[in-house]
Amino acid sequence: MALEFSPEKKKEVDWTISRYPNKQAAMLPVLHIAQYQFGYISHEVMELVARTLELPVSRVQDVVTFYTMYNKQPVGKYHIQVCHTLACGINGAAQVVKYLEEKCGVKCGEGISKDGKFSIVKAECLGSCGTAPMMQVNDDYYEGLTKSKIDELVNKWKSE
Ligand code: FES
Repeated sequence: MALEFSPEKKKEVDWTISRYPNKQAAMLPVLHIAQYQFGYISHEVMELVARTLELPVSRVQDVVTFYTMYNKQPVGKYHIQVCHTLACGINGAAQVVKYLEEKCGVKCGEGISKDGKFSIVKAECLGSCGTAPMMQVNDDYYEGLTKSKIDELVNKWKSE
């Protein structure tokens, strides 16, 4: 059976589409709504979005594969995106990734930790260069990262 948006998300999708000159123009926000509901953008989700926007699936696939903000695989409860662009790179992004891998029990780009809590990926500049090194976890930014800050955050998330 084909996937459907939940009634609540369908309302959000309809409202979003109504704010654009045509359905196709609403693709990015509709993909975000889909990602909130399904956790990641599987092929079935792309089909749902394509059906909703009256587009070929290949057009949706082009967009999903271009932007790193869309998860192509299942992610952990805490999906950690570590910026590794210049400012973060020279301020220790590689060490941040290594330390997070140790703390969270999952390698960067290699799926979800055994407890289902964590996934880690590298991200391009997230627009917070002045607070490097930084990461985005789900919808929130964590900046000026240090080992002790990471300890505090990961320990809190592990206990939740
Ligand atoms: S370089 Fe990391 S936020 Fe811009």
